[in-house]
Amino acid sequence: MAEVYKDFMKDFGSLKQLEIFQKVTHGQDNIHLLIGDSLNLSVPTEKIAFAFIDGNHDPVYVKNDFNKVWPLVSSGGVVAFHDYGGNLPQTTRAIDELEAEHSEEVREKITEPAKTLVYLIKK
Ligand SMILES: C[S@@+](CC[C@H](N)C(=O)[O-])C[C@H]1O[C@@H](n2cnc3c(N)ncnc32)[C@H](O)[C@@H]1O
Repeated sequence: MAEVYKDFMKDFGSLKQLEIFQKVTHGQDNIHLLIGDSLNLSVPTEKIAFAFIDGNHDPVYVKNDFNKVWPLVSSGGVVAFHDYGGNLPQTTRAIDELEAEHSEEVREKITEPAKTLVYLIKK
């Protein structure tokens, strides 16, 4: 997947991903940006209401990203994943495995097939 992103970024010429992000979010003062590989990052907060997982779609990363946020998600909070049920079957499988592993903590699963989104709502 890292190669896919590298290739995608070619279309943006000499602009680095961080520069593009800074342009797009200019003036937004409520964003705390963590820079790095999510495998090596910890989440600097105690509670999470909503997390969106859409980074490296390899199962190792999907599970890493979920396992870092899920324990911090409040009751009624949501973890959403992109590319569920789309053209990345290994991503879908990883999400299904996470849901099964945490079934006792999941209140509801909502899918939006047209957008390849899935939401896991915590009990
Ligand atoms: C599909 S895009 C997500 C787009 C984003 N959700 C949005 O709507 O703009 C995946 C993003 O995750 C980043 N990414 C990929 N692997 C990552 C990793 N291991 N750690 C952190 N970010 C990663 C990519 O650079 C890319 O910006």
